[in-house]
Amino acid sequence: MTNIHFSRLTEPTTAIAEAFTRWENDQQINYLARLNRNQADLNAFKEVTVASLAQRIQDTAIYLIYADQRLIGEMSYQIDPPLLLQHEANSAWIGITIGESQARGKGIGNQALDYLEQQIAAQGLKRIELGVFEFNQPAFALYTKRGYREIGRINEFTYWQERMWADIRMEKRF
Ligand SMILES: CC(C)(COP(=O)(O)OP(=O)(O)OC[C@H]1O[C@@H](n2cnc3c(N)ncnc32)[C@H](O)[C@@H]1OP(=O)(O)O)[C@@H](O)C(=O)NCCC(=O)NCCS
Repeated sequence: MTNIHFSRLTEPTTAIAEAFTRWENDQQINYLARLNRNQADLNAFKEVTVASLAQRIQDTAIYLIYADQRLIGEMSYQIDPPLLLQHEANSAWIGITIGESQARGKGIGNQALDYLEQQIAAQGLKRIELGVFEFNQPAFALYTKRGYREIGRINEFTYWQERMWADIRMEKRF
């Protein structure tokens, strides 16, 4: 049995910044989780540093995901960010990346979201909104299984394979 645990990121380190840089530039997954306007954007190398992570955690609660003590991914939430489709006070906007390929498809994402939802509910927040690109069926299936429902689509949102694709917005209420 894999031992999974989660830890709130409070003190970014070089090792953590390097893992984020690797995941956010990994061509196997960067088209799934990162918004890209065009091919150049998709190809661009974007370094994550200790300083940029320190900046990120000012308005984003980040949780590191560990499997058998190894850092394999991260998830986060922000409260009422401008990018919400439905602006309703006390909404959490979430994101998740299981960055290490061998850790995907083993139930860790499901378990991680369960934990993240508990943290969000414990803050007294009442609603979660997320965005999933229309070609990302595994993620869409996971969110549907966890009770998220589609509330709208933003067309021409992100670039992949020579065209623009929609962002599907989903929500879950407590
Ligand atoms: C999407 C992601 C978070 C899911 O986490 P995971 O640990 O791989 O998923 P799990 O093993 O917990 O699977 C849970 C459910 O997701 C769905 N799912 C996961 N992988 C799937 C796949 N390859 N094909 C279809 N459905 C899949 C299924 O509904 C699955 O439930 P089931 O096992 O009962 O069939 C993870 O794969 C990931 O980080 N992918 C790359 C980045 C990304 O897409 N992030 C989300 C952006 S919106």
